[in-house]
Amino acid sequence: MVRKPANYSKKAILTLLYEHRNEFLSGQKISELIGCSRTAVWKHIQSLLEEGFLIESVQKKGYRLMQSPDGLNEPAVAAGLKTKRLGRTIRFYESIESTQKEALRLADEGAEDGTVVLTNEQTNGRGRLGHTWQSQRGTNIAMSMILRPSLPIEKTPQLTLLTAVAATDVIEKVTGLTCGIKWPNDILYNGKKLVGILTELQAEATYVKAVVIGIGINVNGDLSDLPESVRQVAGSLELITGKRYALAPFIQEFFECFEALYTTYLHEGFQSIRPLWEQRALNLGNVIKVRKPGGHILEGVARGINNEGVLLLQKSDGTLAQVYSADIEW
Ligand code: BTN
Repeated sequence: MVRKPANYSKKAILTLLYEHRNEFLSGQKISELIGCSRTAVWKHIQSLLEEGFLIESVQKKGYRLMQSPDGLNEPAVAAGLKTKRLGRTIRFYESIESTQKEALRLADEGAEDGTVVLTNEQTNGRGRLGHTWQSQRGTNIAMSMILRPSLPIEKTPQLTLLTAVAATDVIEKVTGLTCGIKWPNDILYNGKKLVGILTELQAEATYVKAVVIGIGINVNGDLSDLPESVRQVAGSLELITGKRYALAPFIQEFFECFEALYTTYLHEGFQSIRPLWEQRALNLGNVIKVRKPGGHILEGVARGINNEGVLLLQKSDGTLAQVYSADIEW
């Protein structure tokens, strides 16, 4: 006999309620679909009500989900998701130190391709080049995706650029805002950073075992809980548009958009992504300063990226430098 995980039925009931958001589902129907008793259905509904879900209950009609508590939950993201692999396994944590750290641990344990680690609160988020990533509880998206592409190690930075394209597309679709990408992967609007992306690898010799892509998106909130130094450089979609956005549909859109680009990339290579990235790039043709790990600064005109996703910087003597990893200033 296969044991169902604790809370399996409650999660399944909530998923059903999300999938049938605008309809009533009878207790009988739910118990048949989930495979538990009607009493168990009733008990799980009571427990969901206690957690802050607003569920209408009408005699002879059944139950209908009216409203969810603030923040994310796994069924809200899983219900109605149209992807094939991405997000089909979600590891959800109410609070966690870093989704990235957890995803790397899960990848090491053999988590399948497409698994996503998601949380409502990240207490010690990691950023690029040793920076930290700070975000407010329940208002932002912090997640890490585990992918297992068969790619040579040197091509994996391309996935960071692809993720940046997916993020700008989703922001445009959901909010109407056209953001730009600062190489390699900061998403900015009017100079304020809205999205950070961190790609890390598990590899053996030249072979990629797993790529973990962490994404932080400042969706709602006024960032008032964050330090002044962060507020000076960061923004949120709510601060720009004055609207709040439901996080679960946002994440679903992201998964669908990312998966479509990723599938194209795996079939056609980076040449299918490069023009999309360049169309959204902010600093091409401009003089920029590149601070390389270790502090060395290079100055030149950003000429574009090559087919590996490496930034091409034209120095004052006309030669092209290839920049693999750096912070950009301009
Ligand atoms: C950057 O420095 O711009 C990258 C920031 C990446 C932050 C995300 S939030 C989800 C995931 N978990 C982490 O600890 N970091 C990444």
